[in-house]
Amino acid sequence: MALAHKSDFGSNPANGLRDQNDPNKGRQKLVLEFSSPNIAKPFHAGHLRSTIIGGFLANLYKSAGWDVVTVNYLGDWGKQYGVLALGFEKYGSEEELVKDPINHLFTVYVKISKEVADEKELAEKLKAEGKEAEAQKILDEGVDEKARSYFKKMTDGDEAAIALWKRFRDYSIVKYKQTYARLNIHFDEYSGESKVSEDEMQEAAAKLKELGFAHEDRGALLMDFTKHVPGKEGKTLGKAILRKKDGTALYLTRDISELINRYNRYKFDKMIYVIASEQDLHVKQFFKIVRMIGRDDIADKCQHVNFGLVLGMSTRKGTVKFLNDILRDVGEHMHDVMKKNEDKYSQVEDPEQIADKLGISSVMVQDMSGKRINNYTFDLSRMTSFEGDTGPYLQYAHARLCSIQRKAGLSDEDMADANLSLLTEPMAVNLVRVIAQWPDVVQNVLKTLEPTTILTYLFKLTHTLSTSYTHLRIVGSEPDVLKARLALYIAARVVLFNGMSLLGLTPVERYDYASFS
Ligand code: ARG
Repeated sequence: MALAHKSDFGSNPANGLRDQNDPNKGRQKLVLEFSSPNIAKPFHAGHLRSTIIGGFLANLYKSAGWDVVTVNYLGDWGKQYGVLALGFEKYGSEEELVKDPINHLFTVYVKISKEVADEKELAEKLKAEGKEAEAQKILDEGVDEKARSYFKKMTDGDEAAIALWKRFRDYSIVKYKQTYARLNIHFDEYSGESKVSEDEMQEAAAKLKELGFAHEDRGALLMDFTKHVPGKEGKTLGKAILRKKDGTALYLTRDISELINRYNRYKFDKMIYVIASEQDLHVKQFFKIVRMIGRDDIADKCQHVNFGLVLGMSTRKGTVKFLNDILRDVGEHMHDVMKKNEDKYSQVEDPEQIADKLGISSVMVQDMSGKRINNYTFDLSRMTSFEGDTGPYLQYAHARLCSIQRKAGLSDEDMADANLSLLTEPMAVNLVRVIAQWPDVVQNVLKTLEPTTILTYLFKLTHTLSTSYTHLRIVGSEPDVLKARLALYIAARVVLFNGMSLLGLTPVERYDYASFS
């Protein structure tokens, strides 16, 4: 099976059909939102996990025959972009913006935010000293207030304000795309909080008010779930603000409108949000609100795929991390690990490139090793080790299978007449059994959406393989036994390749670094 179907082995494209018996009814559509970083803010560990898990889910559903639309919902709207624009006027550099927008905008944002914080502190101090008028003057004329009116200009569609903001956004997206490409990730749509129309949000808020679920409170619009949702659920949901007193909408309101919009645009069969469990309450609230406005039909199709925290992630220099810095750090660390074995290192053609690839595998495998909901500690030396269940080990296992075949000098096609009945040893039978489990593993993961299930299986396969090599030798075997065994190894390689690709890894075909550890 594995030999005949190759990259399709384990995938079941009929799964995604609307009607299993009638392919003409088309495939089911999944809208998958993940990654969703905030412009001018750090791409933190939560975004990294969302990216890795989301990329995996996109591959998984595609392999199951679904029509998948990937969406990146950027944090790109709100008063902070008014703050950023003012900061750029003061501290920004055109040259830096074009060269390194993500870091530059962050630097600018940090500087201007400090001014805002200092200003607030000063106002507090003056107030405490009884100098009310002076304090008020600072609050009325300070950066924070200017930012508020700048953002108001943006929401009113002021051309100059929008043009500057759009450049921040566009340049950042260019850089994000480059980094995502290194992780084999592609987004069909760069959406964002900015794309949600004010009118639609006002409409949603008005509807909630009309239905009696939301009430005005000193100019703001509030939602008290404890009053409208009975029992424990209402208590858990608590209270939420739908609209601030200056009339601007919030994160929560935007999510509601964006979801309804997405449904109208895509008419999806399923919508998955890959968001950290830190935002469980937020997600529960907005799913609930969608039901309260009578859209059970939409809410029923939504699923929150959540995940725990990454602990202990800081750069070597102790500064904030962006995705690029993380990947660079891990690549460098991997490179150091490889250098420790001078002999082998000297034989590697392009060590930096290999280190980079292995580094990415290290990060991804570590991230997907446990159940999603578990927290884990970011551990550079453990994840880059060639020993234990790590990314480099998986890559090594794949490369070793490729090298066995290379040395035997036979192609996949040459296996057509392999006599598999010669595989009689218990080890061989066991390996066949493990290989045959692969389609069931994929089927099961479609229910749990846990990448660790795939990894656990792949490590079982690689461990089974490593104990097989000494018993099921290729070199020195009779030609027909050799061919049968090689066919078995090739089948294992196909499964390993498919599994790694599903996780979003790029399997490498060559490297002999087993003893780099
Ligand atoms: N930008 C948000 C953050 O960094 C995550 C967005 C998650 N998606 C959503 N639809 N709320 O916290």
